[in-house]
Amino acid sequence: MSLMKALNNEAREVLNRNWRDGFSIPCEKLYPFQWHWDSGFIAIGFAHFDMPKAEQEIKTLLDAQWGNGFIPHIVFHNESDTYFPGPEFHCAELHPQSSKKHKSTGLTQPPVTGFVLEEMFKISKDKKGTLKFIKSVIDKVYDNHNYFYTKRDPQNEGLVYIYHNWESGIDNSPLWDDIFNNMESPSYEFERRDTTHVDASQRPSHREYEHYLHILEIAKAHNYNDDKIAELSPFLVQDPLFNTILLKSNQSLIDLYRLIGNNENKIKQLEEWQEKAISSFNKKLFDEELGAYVHYDLRNETTLRHVSSSSFSPLFANIPSKERTLVLVQTMMDKFGKENYYLCASFDPESERFNPKKYWRGPVWVNLNWILYNGLNQNGFHDIAQRVKADIIELIEKNGFYEYFDPRKEISNSGYGGYNFSWSAALVIDLLSKE
Ligand code: GLC
Repeated sequence: MSLMKALNNEAREVLNRNWRDGFSIPCEKLYPFQWHWDSGFIAIGFAHFDMPKAEQEIKTLLDAQWGNGFIPHIVFHNESDTYFPGPEFHCAELHPQSSKKHKSTGLTQPPVTGFVLEEMFKISKDKKGTLKFIKSVIDKVYDNHNYFYTKRDPQNEGLVYIYHNWESGIDNSPLWDDIFNNMESPSYEFERRDTTHVDASQRPSHREYEHYLHILEIAKAHNYNDDKIAELSPFLVQDPLFNTILLKSNQSLIDLYRLIGNNENKIKQLEEWQEKAISSFNKKLFDEELGAYVHYDLRNETTLRHVSSSSFSPLFANIPSKERTLVLVQTMMDKFGKENYYLCASFDPESERFNPKKYWRGPVWVNLNWILYNGLNQNGFHDIAQRVKADIIELIEKNGFYEYFDPRKEISNSGYGGYNFSWSAALVIDLLSKE
């Protein structure tokens, strides 16, 4: 059997092992529930060899949608004492429109579901059957986008905010240091569970966790009311990765509604959101001096001037112009693409905040590489896309299906975080299926 075939089989085994009753966990112990964007990436992996599971994954996630269109970041289908903070801390039921069926958090995550449906359709060998499935769920995804544009865009710019680092998906990025350093969170007594599964040096600090809990306490004190959160949350950020994913999903919804037919009003609305968003995105979130997209801190009305792998993600939704694309790829190669580094570190290797071992403060992540691989290919940068793909496959072959990887080539055991991690397996299956 070829090496690639063996890797593909192993990846399928990881996914099957992490499958529960109708959904997947990201990995044992460290993440024992259903996570929003993980589920989307996992469904792409399953679509290659078990479409019923891919469909069920998405159906189960959408089953936890709230009355206002919101989709939570964790759905607590099952009990587990290996994770903190669980449902009793989040108390999502405080929100009047939260799901009556499922316990969840009152936070969301990057809205991948729209483009995941389109990926499933592209992969499917039974297009008619898959389109029928898409038809049965697509309006829920549309309602989710409607939630974002009506509730999370207080200045009506077409750019939505996140109000917690856990919403970004890149939870422990040094990007948030600027915000946390200015926050006066109280101290809390609580028992972490993550550091019993993974070396504490690879995870956030106790103080950082206090900030995370503090933001949640403010949201809870106002029953997760969006207007109150926009007014009061100390963390309020327009994130280029999050907004890129929303825009990519908008475009997928447009394409899928066209295939389905008879949805002109929705298509028109989606196109309006797209147009406004792309224009604001380029005006507000591009830093000419850095040659990269950056985050905007809406609470403190200032730009977070750092380059991270998120800075290049707009390629995935074709947001930059041709000229800007050239600048962006140049920045990526200059800062992240040195010979002795795997592509693509999650944070600027030239920054003093870079940490090659710590959770989103430097390591390479499979999902970001997958996004960059697709974005680079769409824009004609096939050679660099190939490197992004080859680097992540090499890291997994060498180390196994870890959650994240040290970008430095001279390090031999460079897999960190959770092991047998679902999206690492799922997206390798997808990457291996591509040229
Ligand atoms: C970590 C990651 C987040 C992911 C979750 C479950 O919290 O930062 O992006 O969704 O793990 O895998």
